[in-house]
Parts: sequence; C-alpha cells; structure tokens
Amino acid sequence: MSTLVVHPQTTPLAGSVPVPSDKSIGHRALLFASLCEGTSSIRGFSYGEDNVSTANAMRAMGVTVEDLSNGRLRVTGSGLFGLKEPKVDLDCGNSGTTMRLLTGILAAQHFRAKMFGDASLSRRPMMRVIAPLRQRGALIEGTPHPKKEGEVTPPLTVGPLLDGQELGALDFESKVSSAQVKSAILLSGLYANGVTRFKEPTLSRDHTERMMRALGVPLRVDGASMVLDPTGWNRKMPAFEMEIPGDASAAAFIVVAANVVPGSRVSVTGVGTNPTRTGLFEIARQMGGGIELIGKGEQGGEPIAEVSAWNAPLSGSVIEGEVVPRAIDEIPIACALAARASGTTTIRNAEELRVKESDRIATMAHVLRSFGVKCDELPDGLVIEGKDGPLEPAEVESRGDHRIAMTAAILGLLARGPSKITDCECIATSFPKFVDTLRSLGARIDTSG
Ligand code: S3P
Repeated sequence: MSTLVVHPQTTPLAGSVPVPSDKSIGHRALLFASLCEGTSSIRGFSYGEDNVSTANAMRAMGVTVEDLSNGRLRVTGSGLFGLKEPKVDLDCGNSGTTMRLLTGILAAQHFRAKMFGDASLSRRPMMRVIAPLRQRGALIEGTPHPKKEGEVTPPLTVGPLLDGQELGALDFESKVSSAQVKSAILLSGLYANGVTRFKEPTLSRDHTERMMRALGVPLRVDGASMVLDPTGWNRKMPAFEMEIPGDASAAAFIVVAANVVPGSRVSVTGVGTNPTRTGLFEIARQMGGGIELIGKGEQGGEPIAEVSAWNAPLSGSVIEGEVVPRAIDEIPIACALAARASGTTTIRNAEELRVKESDRIATMAHVLRSFGVKCDELPDGLVIEGKDGPLEPAEVESRGDHRIAMTAAILGLLARGPSKITDCECIATSFPKFVDTLRSLGARIDTSG
C-alpha cells in the first residue's frame, strides 16, 4: 500500500472499530518482560513494525519472545543481569522509542552493542539520552550531526562497562518533556549503584513509571519529578500478565475523521485513556468536536474507555502549554481539525515536532497547503486558517512519516476530488490496518504499489 487514493467522503462515517494496541505500552511491556524473572504473557499485541523492532532487538540479546499468534506473546525474561551480547547489530527500524529506551538498558551492560535505524531514524537527535547517561558513566558513541554542533545521530554504539564498573547516581533535569528521555534514564537507574532523580518541565506519558511501580521497583513519583532509590531493593522484577490497551494515538485519527466528515458518528473500543495521552481528545472538545469517553475500567494498570466521536461545528483555538506533550504525536491530526474549523488555530510550544519521524511542522505546512489550506510556520508551531467548503484534491508524499500519511488521508476525505498520498508503507509502523479500519466505517480508499 505504498500509494493511497482517497475519494471524497460523500456519506457519513459510521460504526464501531478497535484500534491497534498502544505502541508506547507495547515497547515497555516487551522490555520489562525481557528484564523480569520468569515467563510473562502479553495479550493484544498488534505487530506494528516499531514494536516488532523492539521484540527482535530483545531476541538478539538472548530473550525468548514467542509469538503464540493472535497477538499473544510469551516472553521468557533474562532477569536484569542476563542479557547476552548480540551477535548482530540491532535494527531499530523507524522506532526512536526502541533506540532511545534500549540505550538506557545497554548503557549498563558489560558488552558492546550497536544500534542502527532507517533513513528517518538516522537523522534524529540522540544527545538528549546520551548526555545524561554519560554523566552516570555510560560509554556511548554516535555519528556527529552534519549541521548541529554537539548533536549526535545513529548509529549508536553503547558500552561496554568494564569489569566491576557500574552506573552511578544521577540527578537530571530535562529541558524537554520527553517520555523517551525519562524512560532511558529510569531504565538505566534499575542498574545504577546510586539514586536516580529525574525532573521534566511537564509530565510526559508515564507508562514506564506505572509499569515500574507495578513491578515493585522503588520509584517515587511527584508530578513531573521522580526518584528511583535502589537501596535495599533485590533488583528482581516478577514476570507479569498484561493485555495492552488500544492506542489513543491511533484512535485520534478515527476520532478526528468522525469530527470532520459531515453527519458522522463513530466509536472506538478499548482505547487507553491515560491522562498523559488524551491531549488530542481535549483539544477536539475545546474546538467543538463531538467526543465522549465512556470509562471501561483498567487494563494492565492503564485506564481504558470507549471513545465516541461525532461531527459538530468546529472553531479555531490556541493549542499551547502543558497539553502539547500530552498530544505530541497527535498535533498533525489536530491540524485536520484546524483545517475544518471556523477562524484561526494557533499551535505553539511544539518545537519537538521538528525532530520527529519528519520535521512535522514543515511537513504539515506543506500538506495543508497542498489541500488549499492557508497556514504559516512558526519556529515552534503553526498558524492555520480554517477553510470553508471542500478542500482542494492533493497529491502529497508522506516523507516516510506514518502520522503525516494518515493525516493526509483524513484530509483527503474532505476534498472535492480524489487525492493521492504516496510513500505510505510507513503506516505499518503504528497502524497496519488503518485503511481497512477506515473502509469499515464507509471510507473509499484505493491502494496500490
Ligand atoms: C514516546 C514518546 C514520545 C512520542 C513517541 C513515543 C514513547 O517521544 O513522540 O511517539 O513511547 O516514549 P518523545 O519522548 O521524544 O517526546
């Protein structure tokens, strides 16, 4: 499905659909199960390519990850200290989370490992995890960034610690709210011989903290500050069973599709609604979008809900501040709400978008303009003028970025003729059944290539 042809949506979208399991939680479930004692069972795994990269990396380090089919995985953990030196370089594919979280674990190993990624991952900044890990004694080398002095990109070579050497204590205040940085530091803290203190500007997704605490790791959390004090801890985490909730970031595309296509009413089942992930739902509601979360209890220590969404008039808004980290992966699809809203929407404080799978500020500006939507780029966001009536049919390239490809497909539903989105293989990194899911709601999308 490298090219999608999206037809104008002339009928309402309707129905109830599931979404793939949460990518962030999937990575963490695999990593923690690998470091636990005994055999863990993971259900609801959805085989997005990013999660598969993490599974394969752990296999390469001697962890048995068995696929029992239908999203059931059996992971035989090696304990914190049982990972083996990989015989091959670890392929992280498109997944920044795989590479950055693994850096935290590899930093503490007494073997050397090399990680590499695809063209997009090879451009992404790694100093944000390397610098704090070096501070606690880790040996990490990367490739100097061609343009940014002091920045480093993949491939990364991590370790080894020398015989008898351990990671030390760390007191680190991150300038960015980043769950990847936080998780890399906390994972390295599992091995350190001293206390790990971490603080970020506002709370980013907290799946790592939730899982650590559920597994008895001595972690204290106070808002966006946390302390992992291993004194007296036996450094063992028990095997666990968990069902991974549906991905709120994937659900966001379906929710916004229902918000913008006239007459639509859709529900998404089993969605993880951890408050650190629901920023887009709040943004949609603030802009007038029809949205309701019906709580369905907890799954794997995470709240889940059925999310109902429907079409309603939208108005422009300002998206800034603490909601931004809680909607960081959803800002591209929030741009589709802005394209349909009356008036202007301003997105600020989102400079992190410049270093995602693509420069999502520049890429979204290009996509919006291709659909005839006026917008201006800010250093840290976008100003978007909502467009009345149908959008212009567009031909756009995803630039290898799954969230851009899916956002362009949703915008295509609103155009007055067929739109062509190229370079769409990347959708499989997070939402392999995206096209089928939209079709089951009534969308007309052809695929080729
Ligand atoms: C993720 C954290 C976020 C997010 C990414 C997944 C995670 O990245 O954009 O898709 O699972 O920890 P940052 O930590 O760079 O903000």
